[in-house]
Amino acid sequence: MGYFTEENSAQVVIDTMSDCDNPRLKEVVSVLVRHLHAAVKEIEPSQDEWMQAIQFLTSTGHMCDDWRQEFILLSDVLGVSMLVDALNSRRPPGASENTVLGPFHVADVPLSPMGTNICLDGKGEPMLAHGVVSDLDGTPIEGAKIEVWQTNDDGFYDVQQKGIQPEFNLRAVFRTGADGRYWFRAVKPTSYPIPDDGPVGKLLARLGRHPYRPAHFHYLISREGYDTLTTHIFDPDDPYIGSDAVFGVKESLLADFVPVDDPELQRQNAFETRYFDVEFDFRLANEAV
Ligand code: BEZ
Ligand code: FE
Repeated sequence: MGYFTEENSAQVVIDTMSDCDNPRLKEVVSVLVRHLHAAVKEIEPSQDEWMQAIQFLTSTGHMCDDWRQEFILLSDVLGVSMLVDALNSRRPPGASENTVLGPFHVADVPLSPMGTNICLDGKGEPMLAHGVVSDLDGTPIEGAKIEVWQTNDDGFYDVQQKGIQPEFNLRAVFRTGADGRYWFRAVKPTSYPIPDDGPVGKLLARLGRHPYRPAHFHYLISREGYDTLTTHIFDPDDPYIGSDAVFGVKESLLADFVPVDDPELQRQNAFETRYFDVEFDFRLANEAV
């Protein structure tokens, strides 16, 4: 092995791993070193700039705790979360598409009866979400677990406002029956900023980017034997639909939010006023073997 030079820098580092007994680790670190050294050579940072980069990563780490994960946020705004998701959720044609999970999913939410109104704070414009979960042949899937969560009308998830919003506001779990159908009442979602009070938010501002996500609500749909679907439904009329801060929008995930003014339909669906009807079916692919 030669001494370290500007020209051979990456190879010198990679050669030190010849005794590594974990081929995947060796591959991952080698690729990272190769691309990192290439980037540094292209950028030619000054010592000051390199120190700024180190300080940025340090403050990103300091922002993290059990609840806040600033590194995932960084991965989100750089498009890496969506890229990793795309590589890991290649599906046959016709299967519903994935998008980012985001930081506000909560495990172990109690099961609710189908049709429940999950808006517990009484704010926002009422919405009925419904559809069918089926396999790729269109056969309904019985027993699918449907986890849903969304922000309230002020643009915050319940877990961001503990003590302000009721617990499990706009968050629920349903299980499909033999017809694969789901339906629940909620509120029309609004756009909201990702947490932007840390280094990632400052970076976005300095890059001239906004921190907003277009209005959406989240689904996590799972059933043994099928590929778990982590996705959202988006409002295509949202002003941020073309500039999601985390690149989560896909054309197949745009839904119609249809206003319903018919008093009879309102009565049938237990609304006292106009509501938005959002019909959206999901097709699960068989679990890859
Ligand atoms: C969300 O949609 O909940 C979300 C996704 C990525 C980053 C922040 C929030
Ligand atoms: Fe969200």
